[in-house]
Amino acid sequence: MSTTQLPKALRLPPLAAHLAAAAALTLLAALPAVAQPAGGKVKVGLMLPYTGTFAALGTAIENGFRLYVTEQGGKLGGREIEFVKVDDESDPAKATDNVNKLIKRDNVDVLVGTVHSGVAMAMAKAAKDNGTLLIVPNAGADAVTGAMCAPNIFRSSFSNWQPGYAMGEVVAKKGHKKVVTITWKYAAGDESVRGFKEAFEKSGGKVVKELSLPFPNVEFQALLTEIAATKPDAAYTFFAGGGAVKFVKDYAAAGLKKSIPLYGAGFVTDGTLEAQGADADGLFTTLHYADSLGTPRDNAFRLAYAKTFKLQPDVYAVQGYDAAQMLSVGLNAVKGDVAKKTEFAAALRAAKIDSPRGPFTLSKSHNPVQDIYLRQVGAKENKVIGVASKALTDPGHGCRM
Ligand code: BEZ
Repeated sequence: MSTTQLPKALRLPPLAAHLAAAAALTLLAALPAVAQPAGGKVKVGLMLPYTGTFAALGTAIENGFRLYVTEQGGKLGGREIEFVKVDDESDPAKATDNVNKLIKRDNVDVLVGTVHSGVAMAMAKAAKDNGTLLIVPNAGADAVTGAMCAPNIFRSSFSNWQPGYAMGEVVAKKGHKKVVTITWKYAAGDESVRGFKEAFEKSGGKVVKELSLPFPNVEFQALLTEIAATKPDAAYTFFAGGGAVKFVKDYAAAGLKKSIPLYGAGFVTDGTLEAQGADADGLFTTLHYADSLGTPRDNAFRLAYAKTFKLQPDVYAVQGYDAAQMLSVGLNAVKGDVAKKTEFAAALRAAKIDSPRGPFTLSKSHNPVQDIYLRQVGAKENKVIGVASKALTDPGHGCRM
């Protein structure tokens, strides 16, 4: 409505109208940046590794995310999705700068990332400080849905504790008593081993040695010699990506596979089987996904993914796909208005996500409550043997919200 259409009593002379408009603009400029009105594009900041030992994991997550968006016609919550990408190189030292670029320079509406736990913790801090929505599509850092939890932070993947805890029970049931653990020395490795140890020792086992090397080193020889000398009943491991490929091959080449059974969090054989070949055959692992679930939901997802990317999907692709599903649930509830964070969070807390892994809900601290499968490698697949831990809920230690 122009001023000339206003009732006469409300009309201003031209100069006064001009001054009033200028004053209104000054006032608007002084206000903090507010979210775009629902209707424009939603800007998604993908912060993932595209180089280094986790490069393939980052690509699979992005593929999965894009697949779901494409299936929805390119829109979630009625709004088109636009992407801004950063290669975080799985480098915690660069993480704060990288995430701040997405938040402050690119003004993203939602952050999606990342793979590496140390980088994810920097993202969670920035998301918490700035109130930006964050969906974590892999990194299992327990603190992200523990002490660092926040109403605007969600995870579509797992906590490091979950697969480790489930495997601790499995290895104890198999009758092993003395276990050596081997992993990278950083949050994901430490927490995976902690989860394993908690369940294994509760069931009467003993972790006799905890071996580690810095991330992303792959010089395993000295540690493999130490495992051989310790002669445990079994070994438990957390490695992923390129490092996992080399570890499984080196373990077999050192002659250990025949004498000391190797168990792991499922990342050690997920997305890696082509490169590991026969050296991975027979390995038992625990994870919230497997290649042979055979449900209509998973079959449809696997077919669509294979057709689109000419690749078989893995757990990382599923987590990316589900991150997009979670964004969709939130955006639908607020009709695309990302500023309505309370309603966005309430919708996700009440949601059942229809994942290829099987349906899951979110815990109070926003981590998936999910079945952890026992899998065994055969014919280049992580075949499901059974459910190791039903609806496993991360304890969310230290979360207050
Ligand atoms: C992590 O750093 O949290 C992580 C990396 C790769 C696979 C699983 C977890």
